[in-house]
Amino acid sequence: MHRRWEYGDRPDVFYKLRQVALSQRQRREHLICASSQPKILNRRGRGERPQSAQRVFACGQQAGMLPTMSATQVRRPIITIAGPGSLGNALAISLHAAGYRISEILSRPGKASRLRARALARKVGARAALIGKEPCNADVLWLCVPDREIRNCAEFLARSGGWSKRAVLHSSGALTSDELAALRSRGASVASVHPLMTFVPGEIPSLAGVPFAIEGDWTATRVARRIARHLGGEPFQISKADKTAYHAWGAFTSPLLTALLVTAEQVAAAARIPRRRARKMMLPILRQTLANYASFGGPNGFSGPIVRGDIDTVKRHLRALESTPVARKVYAALAQAAIEYLPTKNKTGPRHVIERALRR
Ligand SMILES: NC(=O)c1ccc[n+]([C@@H]2O[C@H](COP(=O)([O-])OP(=O)(O)OC[C@H]3O[C@@H](n4cnc5c(N)ncnc54)[C@H](OP(=O)(O)O)[C@@H]3O)[C@@H](O)[C@H]2O)c1
Repeated sequence: MHRRWEYGDRPDVFYKLRQVALSQRQRREHLICASSQPKILNRRGRGERPQSAQRVFACGQQAGMLPTMSATQVRRPIITIAGPGSLGNALAISLHAAGYRISEILSRPGKASRLRARALARKVGARAALIGKEPCNADVLWLCVPDREIRNCAEFLARSGGWSKRAVLHSSGALTSDELAALRSRGASVASVHPLMTFVPGEIPSLAGVPFAIEGDWTATRVARRIARHLGGEPFQISKADKTAYHAWGAFTSPLLTALLVTAEQVAAAARIPRRRARKMMLPILRQTLANYASFGGPNGFSGPIVRGDIDTVKRHLRALESTPVARKVYAALAQAAIEYLPTKNKTGPRHVIERALRR
């Protein structure tokens, strides 16, 4: 009589059976990819909702998908970028480097705008064109225009047709995909896609590990997630209701941090250290502060008179800052945050001093 093996008795048998099951699943997925029917594949390679996104996510033999390809090798959508500014440049160049075809760089009609579009188009092998002049032929139109222009652009573009089966994205951190309602009503699938990164002229930051906050319609969010992953980013879903608070958080991580640093330069000038020199002198302590924050978090990466409870030193600082009133206010507001959110000795004394300073 055969003994019945339990998996617990024979882990090797258990793993063998699991391998067989996995390879059967892989074979099934290859069969799906090889079929002549266009199919939309999710990350695991399973077919889903084919009608809504055949163009954007077309796969199978017609779109160059080989049976051996994994789902991540589905044809990359062709992308048009509108607005060759800081984000437009960084995005177009990163997408081009990641193997995406950028078909057009769209700009406004002004001479300087067109020159900027042409310069970027040359870098990524695209064509420069005027926004709204011709129908959009790309799978994805990515609006990289200022927040205040997104709705205007969408309404202007919606005057022409041909939007069904196209995805339209914008990258505002604060505004939702509803800014693109005009294009949605013409059949486009729309989403907002915000990389939590700072883009400035002349610098193309790495997008590796960068969170991308995404919300919007089903097809456009799937396209956006896939693109974000190809760029090395980490997409995550955000709700419309949370976008503004999310973006306010983002403001603390870069623009307001820069504002804090230039405020510090003003204070250095009050100590007769020239600003440019101050910037250089601040870098070692700034780098170590960020490293401490990254390794230990706020409470254990925090030093200075407030954590030590040296209230007289804080009072002296406030007196020295009389000559730079804006910096004094910033100091008082940040000291208040430190007292509230960080471990400090003797909270009551410093709290009174800071509250008095904030009232002035
Ligand atoms: N910069 C960042 O760090 C960052 C980070 C994440 C997200 N974003 C988002 O990215 C978007 C763009 O920001 P940005 O910093 O790249 O702005 P930007 O540097 O000012 O660039 C905006 C671009 O849009 C063009 N533009 C303005 N109005 C237009 C219109 N009606 N039609 C076509 N093009 C138009 C401008 O060109 P002309 O003025 O030459 O015509 C310029 O090239 C915003 O939604 C922003 O919230 C920015």
